[in-house]
Amino acid sequence: MRLPEPRGPLTTALRDDLLAGEVSAAAVELARATAEAAAEPLLDEDLQLALAVCYELHYRGFDGVDDVLEWDPDMLTLRAHLERRHLAALRDLTGPTPATGDPVDQQLTALIAADDGPSLSRYMARHGTPEQWREYLTLRSVYHLKEADPHTFAIPRLSGRAKAAMVEIQADEYGGGSAERMHSELFAGMMRDLGLDAGYGALWDAAPAVAFTAVNTMSLFGLHRRWRAAALGHLACVEMTSSEPSRRYSSGLRRLGHGEGTTVFYDEHVEADAVHEQIAAVDMCGSLVAEDRSLADDVLFGAACSLALDGLAAGHLLGAWEAGRSALRAEPALAA
Ligand SMILES: [Fe+2]
Ligand SMILES: [Fe+2]
Repeated sequence: MRLPEPRGPLTTALRDDLLAGEVSAAAVELARATAEAAAEPLLDEDLQLALAVCYELHYRGFDGVDDVLEWDPDMLTLRAHLERRHLAALRDLTGPTPATGDPVDQQLTALIAADDGPSLSRYMARHGTPEQWREYLTLRSVYHLKEADPHTFAIPRLSGRAKAAMVEIQADEYGGGSAERMHSELFAGMMRDLGLDAGYGALWDAAPAVAFTAVNTMSLFGLHRRWRAAALGHLACVEMTSSEPSRRYSSGLRRLGHGEGTTVFYDEHVEADAVHEQIAAVDMCGSLVAEDRSLADDVLFGAACSLALDGLAAGHLLGAWEAGRSALRAEPALAA
């Protein structure tokens, strides 16, 4: 993919340095200063896009950017400034998430039951217009076109039953050996059906900060061994909160006249995630915590982040639409 358009001084410096093949001391200092000055780090366009660009070096990289920069020490120092601020902001957002002595799957269920964030799926089922659907898919494409990849980084950090459970879930996410059944590919098909460019990273320039905030959180959890339990808690929460909303999203598309070929992404999640929910909560998170009780707090923190960031994205979309505005930064690029 090509490098996204800069959104401020930091992403401008980062783009220039990446294309030059060297991360400058000035860019590292700018990252430190940007992180320190950010009033709302999780909604900061420049900060979140910069972090997403740093992480993307671990996924598919960028046209014209040397792959060797992935492990460049200055790049990692720059990223660490952003990560520290991002993590502190996540803590502020979720509040404390202390574990109790109850089985962790029950604690996850209770956490989800207590969530009172806005329901985007209910809105999309009943009211979402074709244009709002395109905006929603544009925002979500930042994640779904790499669906499962961020959590997958956690697999080598696990062992035993927790690892086996995670692999079982991820194998389904990756289509069980069939490229066209990969969830990322099902999502891409749905984008194309709605007239959007489904190229990997093609709509980054239109996506608002909250789209990157969600994926950056998963990347941070997946790429740091220290946050492996949060990665699992996050994944478990995604699985546990997917089945019913997916049914609603599917019905929203059918209300607009779309058929099974388009709704298959959601229909697949209605079925698969009803199964994944148990595997994720009981086998994956339960086994991890049974091995090491001290990880329970992080499991819950990861889950709480998932809920809170879903709420942030839903609030962003619904707030913009209520005000009669687009929720995107620019018009989504329509497929040619
Ligand atoms: Fe999926
Ligand atoms: Fe799933």
